[in-house]
Amino acid sequence: MNLFSDVQKFNIFIWKLLILFHFLKYSNALRDTCPMGCQCDEDKQQVTCEGQQVVTLPDRLPSGYESLVIRNSSVRTIEKNSFRKMEKLMQIEFENNPNLGTIEKLAFKGLKKIRLIKFTTCPGLTELQKNAFSGIQNQMGLKIIFEKTPIHRIDGHTFRNAQNIRELTISGEELALSRHCFANINQLDFLTVSGVVLIEPEIFTNSTRFHVVHFKNSQFDIPPSTFSTLSHTSHLLIEHSKVPSIAPDAFSGLTTIQVIELHACQLGTISARAFANVENLGELKILRNTIGDLDTSESIMSRALKTRIEENTLECSCGMKWMTSVEEMSDINFCSTTASFRSIRSFIKAKCLNPSQEISRKTNHLPSISSFSSSSIVNFYFLSLVWYFSVRFFVFRI
Ligand SMILES: *[C@@H]1O[C@H](CO)[C@@H](O)[C@H](O)[C@H]1NC(C)=O
Ligand SMILES: *[C@@H]1O[C@H](CO)[C@@H](O)[C@H](O)[C@H]1NC(C)=O
Repeated sequence: MNLFSDVQKFNIFIWKLLILFHFLKYSNALRDTCPMGCQCDEDKQQVTCEGQQVVTLPDRLPSGYESLVIRNSSVRTIEKNSFRKMEKLMQIEFENNPNLGTIEKLAFKGLKKIRLIKFTTCPGLTELQKNAFSGIQNQMGLKIIFEKTPIHRIDGHTFRNAQNIRELTISGEELALSRHCFANINQLDFLTVSGVVLIEPEIFTNSTRFHVVHFKNSQFDIPPSTFSTLSHTSHLLIEHSKVPSIAPDAFSGLTTIQVIELHACQLGTISARAFANVENLGELKILRNTIGDLDTSESIMSRALKTRIEENTLECSCGMKWMTSVEEMSDINFCSTTASFRSIRSFIKAKCLNPSQEISRKTNHLPSISSFSSSSIVNFYFLSLVWYFSVRFFVFRI
């Protein structure tokens, strides 16, 4: 009797073991099956979750898969910690997700292997919130790309403590860059932003090691010290944009930068001293822009080793007389249609130097104004001040 019950107990034990074993095997298989509603392409090691019936992100991927595509889905939110069980994930792409509207803070936390996070055609994604791209801890350079996604606003600290970003490309629409929106980023190789309509002050606070900073197809005023704290940047480029005003000290606080370039922009007023306080600037390039007001030499004054101001179109006035003192500048920049595109030098010659001045210049054997070198621009500025005040004085007397 006793013996029988022992055998029975043993049997039950074996059965239990078998059931447990089966259960483990089944749950392992579960882990390696493709998530519901998704396709798993073994060759590409890619999981694709596609179609309107997809309302949530998968919570795990079969082992060995490194790429996730969410396409045409009804997903509304990328929640905090969405990918916590996908440490191996290298790429995530969101394509054509009309309902996607929110990326919660720390959404991509802990994705140590991630190399690419890309959004294409997500028309509901209009705002990037604080800390959305924080806590990723990527070990390799990461690209974060928004295409055809009409971002209107990037909140402060959206990328707080992001590190080692290879590329951040944001093609926004009527995009407002909030105070501190690119703050506290440690290393960003290529920043490209388009569609900007507002830049608040201090967008780059505490950020370091930005290599190339590129704004295009935008319309914004540049407030004072916008780029301060950026150092060791190789290229700051603003192109194909409308910039009604560049504040005094707009570029102050930049240190050790190779090139500041304004290219093919419609510039309104460049304030005096806009570039004056950039320390250790290699080259200032202002090329092929239309410029509204450049009435003082101080607008382009900088400590750049090299300055190229070429092929710009300006509203010509006699206030630009100072320009003829800068070697070549008045030959390679041009008046607008109102002065039939002639060079600034020929405009000044025809309109602003009266004959009596010409004669006195000749008789005194003064060097011609055009032979002043660009390094004497400061001197010339003071000369023109003296000239200006003497004219005023003279007018007063009359
Ligand atoms: C995804 O959406 C695009 C555009 O709306 C459509 O052309 C395509 O057929 C859709 N694909 C699937 C699998 O639903
Ligand atoms: C900048 O860094 C300092 C020191 O870490 C910190 O106290 C300050 O709050 C940071 N500023 C911003 C805007 O994050």
